[in-house]
Amino acid sequence: MSDKVIIFDTTLRDGEQSPGASMTKDEKVRIARQLERLKVDVIEAGFAASSEGDFQAISAVAAAVKDSIVCSLARANDKDITRAADALKAANAKRIHAFLATSPLHMAVKLRMSPEEVLEQAKRSIRFARNLAEDIEFSAEDGYRSEMDFLCRVVEAVINEGATTINIPDTVGYATPELYGEFMKTLRTRVPNSDKAVWSVHCHNDLGMAVANSLAGVKIGGARQIECTINGLGERAGNTALEEIVMALRTRKDYFDMVCGIDATQIVPASKLVSQITGFVVQPNKAVVGANAFAHTSGIHQDGILKNRDTYEIMRAEDVGWSANKIVLGKLSGRNAFKQRLQELGIAIEAEADLNEAFVRFKTLADQKSEIFDEDIIAIMSDSAAAEEGEFYKFISLSQHSETGERPKSKVTFRVGDKETSSEAEGNGPVDASLNAIEEIVKSGAEQLLYSVNAITSGTQSQGEVTVRLAKGGRIVNGVGTDPDIIAASAKAYLSALNKLHDPSQAKLNAQMTP
Ligand code: KIV
Ligand code: ZN
Repeated sequence: MSDKVIIFDTTLRDGEQSPGASMTKDEKVRIARQLERLKVDVIEAGFAASSEGDFQAISAVAAAVKDSIVCSLARANDKDITRAADALKAANAKRIHAFLATSPLHMAVKLRMSPEEVLEQAKRSIRFARNLAEDIEFSAEDGYRSEMDFLCRVVEAVINEGATTINIPDTVGYATPELYGEFMKTLRTRVPNSDKAVWSVHCHNDLGMAVANSLAGVKIGGARQIECTINGLGERAGNTALEEIVMALRTRKDYFDMVCGIDATQIVPASKLVSQITGFVVQPNKAVVGANAFAHTSGIHQDGILKNRDTYEIMRAEDVGWSANKIVLGKLSGRNAFKQRLQELGIAIEAEADLNEAFVRFKTLADQKSEIFDEDIIAIMSDSAAAEEGEFYKFISLSQHSETGERPKSKVTFRVGDKETSSEAEGNGPVDASLNAIEEIVKSGAEQLLYSVNAITSGTQSQGEVTVRLAKGGRIVNGVGTDPDIIAASAKAYLSALNKLHDPSQAKLNAQMTP
């Protein structure tokens, strides 16, 4: 029997710490539901004590998720741990994840504590956490740069206090595969009660080795939990990419001899959802989930693939959820065909009213665009989900004029609450003019941090997907809009971001702002 590796997803916590990737409560719930479909073992939903917004988001994820364990991060103190336990009350299965730095540098400079004080605090916090939950993870922050003797003492002590998982992060992405694997192995050999806990790896990608380090932690070091994020999202250069870990374990089962419980066909939908919500576009040559990951353009490769797929393919695109960009529906497709395609894509619609609303969006799109692809349907469903989150501002129509040598003008008509309004403005380009027109009325004064356009399928017939990131008063929000007309998509994205700024329950404080 192959050993099982626990997949601990931290997209909603460590992934969210990437500047600009902060998510609203509803966005976290949407991603958590997809992570559950992916069958991840543990979903780290956030850091409850970091803000009221994150506390609410973790509570909502805990209530929504049924199959995966839901986890909250906490500093190793009573207040944070209590907050984590409170946020997780509704969870079917919950985990509290307490962390404390153990490296000489972090203890001296950041914590200003002696090693003995750190040891005592680690013990005390785990003892306290055990009164609130059974499943307790302890992370030795900056663990890989800690002194081995001291780290062994801390780990032994927290296992004695009841920690059930021991995580050794390479917080700054300094490790190399062999050294990290050996480090984990030495720790597990020297800690006398090491068999009483599951060992976990958590690697950052500063030197591009997070996935390799994590796999070495498992193969050489004997860890049985990997902490990772969808698309490798995370602070600085990011975290270990879940999709690469899962496909490495599966494709090289001959070498790793491990299994995990992930449904790999849900990987690409998860990647697209996270990219769409955070505005972090996936690079085309990204392993597994990049648009080119399975594209063979050279003649020699195409010829080989036609003769036998194994010549140049070590994985199948369909196994990780890529659909063949096929035309699935069109103008004449009915409600039943639309509903069936949603089911095939694994998109659950609970209420009939939601299906009706999505079908109206589909028909509107089919009038504009003759070929409707799976990606279009996923975008329609994301728009519907975003609309459910509340639309104070709603796009109605747009007309614009641009001509070489003239300053572009745009007129945008949109709803503000119950009132329809129109406004005209000029700008450097048609997009700038349209956003200026909206701003004439709304006067948000928000700072624009990001504007990006992405074609959701191939060719100029594709819908454009626009992401706009705005900042105001310490809040950062992302708005996404899709439309075959990229100027209209831009206006929709801008209004979607303004909706989040307008509704305080939607606009969450940046997760990095810990109290
Ligand atoms: O990178 C790190 O050290 C962390 C811990 C808080 C687990 O994210
Ligand atoms: Zn981390």
